[in-house]
Order: sequence, then structure tokens, then C-alpha cells
Amino acid sequence: MKSIVIQQPGKLVIETRPMLQPAPGEVRIKVSYAGICGSDVHIYHGHNPFAKYPRVIGHEFFGHIDSVGEGVDPSRIGERVVIDPVVSCGHCYPCSVGRPNVCSELQVIGVHRDGGFSDYAVAPAQNAYQVPDSIPDQLASMVEPFTIAANITAFLKPTPTDTALIFGAGPMGLTVIQVLKGVYGVQKVIVADRIEERLQMARENGADWAINNQHKSVTEQLAAENIRPTLVIDAACHPSILQEAINVASPAARVGMMGFSGEACSITQQSITSKEISLFSSRLNSHRFPQVIEWMSEGKISPEKLVTHCMPGEDVEAAMTLFEKDQRACCKVLLKF
Ligand code: NAI
Ligand code: MN
Ligand code: ZN
Repeated sequence: MKSIVIQQPGKLVIETRPMLQPAPGEVRIKVSYAGICGSDVHIYHGHNPFAKYPRVIGHEFFGHIDSVGEGVDPSRIGERVVIDPVVSCGHCYPCSVGRPNVCSELQVIGVHRDGGFSDYAVAPAQNAYQVPDSIPDQLASMVEPFTIAANITAFLKPTPTDTALIFGAGPMGLTVIQVLKGVYGVQKVIVADRIEERLQMARENGADWAINNQHKSVTEQLAAENIRPTLVIDAACHPSILQEAINVASPAARVGMMGFSGEACSITQQSITSKEISLFSSRLNSHRFPQVIEWMSEGKISPEKLVTHCMPGEDVEAAMTLFEKDQRACCKVLLKF
């Protein structure tokens, strides 16, 4: 089988590897589509602190179960599945409170262990979720990115009367817009980005107002309209944004953050406590696959609106370069295996 391997930072090779065999409790997936994510690019460049090399990257993938390990029901062979990349121990404190995504022994498929940019991949059987026929093969790998939005919104509990502000109209910002609109019915969703093409995508994904903050800050533009968001989500994740998010937020607002920057940001206690802001962080997802599969099959979210490119797996280098360098033309880039 062929696998896309980052042998060491900066070195991507398509290797021929011996066929994987599923261990006890695992399934083997014949991969058909996989999505490229910012974190794949980070592993490629050596900017992901969790990655070990060599690594088969890819954590957003879809395929068919074609073999099962000992202890797994053989009737699962043939199932169309998407894979939850979160592998957890099941017994530590976070696991015991339903938060396997921050398990103390967390292993992320495609980061800590080999992933889905490959003809075949293996995963624990319980991480393979069957998708209904109403979700086409080409869109099924989009379940994972929407689980990120599902996870953060589960903390934030959006309501129709919220005024939501999202920083960033990349894949993460767009999935959040769709979930706020399509699932929670939030009436006013405002999105800020610096790239006009991305703002246009934000509108197409349901944003009510798309603000370009390249020359004029979000703070100024909201003040001119007398708007105080009650829900703010940072899906751009520059360390400077948290401070602005807290400053523009209404008293009693909820603020959600998803960034992993190691740089400090400067925020005062006063700016948070005086408005009694609730601050939530969210990492990956905790058992959100069934929920997102349901949203997708009910048409509450529209993954096709994010997919701008689909390329053959062997063109992975070109695909990753396009994804990284051309944020104007690209949103989600899929690989076909
Ligand atoms: P992306 O880079 O495609 O999109 C970010 C967008 O934010 C870009 O369109 C950029 O123009 C915009 N932006 C940057 N600075 C801005 C600013 N100051 N104001 C307004 N817009 C600004 O990235 P993607 O894939 O959408 O991911 C966004 C972030 O989410 C990344 O930092 C990533 O690490 C993080 N992430 C977090 C996850 C989690 O579970 N916590 C999971 C996946 C991604
Ligand atoms: Mn991802
Ligand atoms: Zn655990």
C-alpha cells in the first residue's frame, strides 16, 4: 500500500509500506477521501509540538471497513465510515467526565499515530462511525472539521437571540457559522477576516455581516453600529485576538477560544471580571461524531460549501502547497485515494 509520510520536518515522501493488519479491537479502513487541515501542514513543517516522526498524516478521512481485528464483529466489514481521531484511555479523570479529547494519554490519529493519508489505515473499532447513504463519499471526511464546531458550541450554548461574532473565516470559522445558523438558529452572526474572498465565503456560509478588519478594527466597526456581541468565538487564533474579543463582548457574554499559540497574550482580570465574561476553550471533539453525522444527513449543515478543491492523493504536495499559500482561492482541499 502507498502512504503519505512525513519522514522528518520538511520531508514528505509517498512510501510503499507493507499492508497494515488491524490489531485486536481495531478495524482497517480502505481510505477513499481525506481532507487537508492546517495541522497536517504544521506537522509537515515541524511546527506541531505533539508530532513524532516518521508519521502518516491525515485525521479527516472516510472509507470502507475492509478487515477487522480480533474481538470486532466481522459484520462491520463493508461499512462506510468516518474516523474520530481522538484515541483515549477511558479511565483517567478527563475520560471519566466525558472529555476523552483531553485524555491524559491522548493519542490523535494522524498526529501521535499513523493517520489517513494512505490507501489503508487502522483505528480502534469504536472510533469508526458508520455514515448513512445520504452523505456522499466525497463529503463524509468533512464530518471531523464540523465536530470542532460542535464541540465549542456545546460549551457556548448559543441561542437564537445571541449576537455572535466570529474572528476568522477559514475552515474553522465557516463551520462555526454554519452550526450557529443551521443548528442553533442564531439570528445575527457577524464574521471578521482580512481576506475579501474569505468574507465572501462567510456570506455564502450564512454570515449576516462580514467585516473586513484589515484597515479598520472590529472594535471600531462594531462601535459605529452600537453592537455588543453576546457570543464571541476566536477561529483565527492570533494571540492578540483574545483581548479584543473580551473588550468588544457584552457584559455576561461567552467567549470561546480554539488557538494553540505558545505566545503570551495580555488581558487584564478587570476586563474579564467586570463584565463577568465566561471563557471557554475547546480542543478537538468529545464524542461529537454521531451528532454531526445527524446534522449533515438532516441538511442542517452543508459541507459542500467549504470544499473548493479535490485532488488525487499522489498530488499531495501540490495540494498542501495550494492549501497553505492560496487562502483566497482555497478553503477545504480533499485528497482522493
Ligand atoms: P485558517 O488559517 O485557514 O483561517 C484563519 C483565518 O483567520 C484566515 O482567513 C485569516 O485571514 C483570518 N485571520 C487571521 N488573523 C485575523 C484577525 N486578527 N482578525 C480576523 N481574521 C483573522 O485556519 P483554520 O483551519 O480555519 O483554523 C483556524 C484556527 O483554529 C487555527 O489556529 C487552528 O490551529 C485552530 N484549530 C483549533 C482546533 C481546536 O480543536 N481547538 C481544531 C482545528 C483548528
Ligand atoms: Mn482538522
Ligand atoms: Zn483518558
